[in-house]
Amino acid sequence: MESVTSNNVESQTMKAIVVTDKSAGTAGMKLVERPRPQAAINDVVVQVHASGFVPTELEWPSTWTDRLGHNRTPTVPGHELAGVVIALGYGTTGLSVGQRVFGLTDWYRDGTLAEYVALESRNLAPLPGDVDFTVGASLPISGLTAWQGLFQHGRLQAGQTVLAHGAAGAVGSLVVQLAREAGAYVIGTGRTADRQSVLDFGAQEFVDLENNTLEDVGSVDLVFDVIGGEIGKRSAALVRSGGILVSIVGPVETQAANILAIDFVVESDRAQLNEIVQRVRDGRLRTNIGDISSLDDAVVALNPTGRRKGKPIIRIRP
Ligand SMILES: NC(=O)c1ccc[n+]([C@@H]2O[C@H](COP(=O)([O-])OP(=O)(O)OC[C@H]3O[C@@H](n4cnc5c(N)ncnc54)[C@H](OP(=O)(O)O)[C@@H]3O)[C@@H](O)[C@H]2O)c1
Repeated sequence: MESVTSNNVESQTMKAIVVTDKSAGTAGMKLVERPRPQAAINDVVVQVHASGFVPTELEWPSTWTDRLGHNRTPTVPGHELAGVVIALGYGTTGLSVGQRVFGLTDWYRDGTLAEYVALESRNLAPLPGDVDFTVGASLPISGLTAWQGLFQHGRLQAGQTVLAHGAAGAVGSLVVQLAREAGAYVIGTGRTADRQSVLDFGAQEFVDLENNTLEDVGSVDLVFDVIGGEIGKRSAALVRSGGILVSIVGPVETQAANILAIDFVVESDRAQLNEIVQRVRDGRLRTNIGDISSLDDAVVALNPTGRRKGKPIIRIRP
């Protein structure tokens, strides 16, 4: 099972990274040989060119159990991809074989740290020919999360003030840019070392959470929380009456009156993926790509010794 051969294309197997042990975290990742996935009803099979990875995904319950709570290991992590469609399942419409695509895989299915992945066609959007696969793989989770948090759940309006936590990170950097484009005044937060990067993404102010007092920002219309815990609680108190706190790290405990506190998990949306990639093409959005590694080197790359910067991408095909 764990020997990896190079001539696996004809053999109907593929290289993939799997996890079996939750307590081991990313250190438990192993590169193995697996059967290639088949396209079920409404599915496509994609030859993965690049895969995005969210470092916390090995803490998500869906990495370990199916929808009934049964153990589903060994599982293939990674939920973002850019690649080329190589097969359509029964009844699949909207995409064709040979098409370049990017998107988000189902949390409860095998993911994208693999040479091939099967997923529902509705989870993908066309990737324009002038957008590199590495760029495409960096966008689905971060981009859709930022978009949905700001515009669907946060109901952002021009002229409002947004407090964007973790603004140098994968989601936060896109929150800053999309909120600025929408005409908001953006206050980004992060660690001391993140100041310049957050200002470069377009935030008008930066709060160093290690040295500044968060409460000094005064009141805001919208908090976008990617950190949680005490930061989430303290941020809820900063939301002005009628404002919204959006969290992507679970519910925020708050006694604050007359604010809306929402936590959500990102969903696939082809139209929103189209909007996001169009902004990357015309320069309105800058990607935040961190280390890029090959599939063979991914286990080491996804266990860095230092602090991560940006979104880790695994380039599955050169
Ligand atoms: N609900 C959803 O749909 C959804 C979607 C995407 C992501 N998420 C979750 O959202 C979180 C962020 O994801 P991401 O991909 O943007 O991660 P990321 O790239 O690591 O960004 C998070 C940023 O926040 C910073 N940060 C964290 N704690 C901090 C603190 N106490 N003080 C100052 N800065 C702090 C991080 O710095 P350090 O790296 O130094 O900690 C990093 O710069 C993760 O927990 C992820 O699981 C949820």
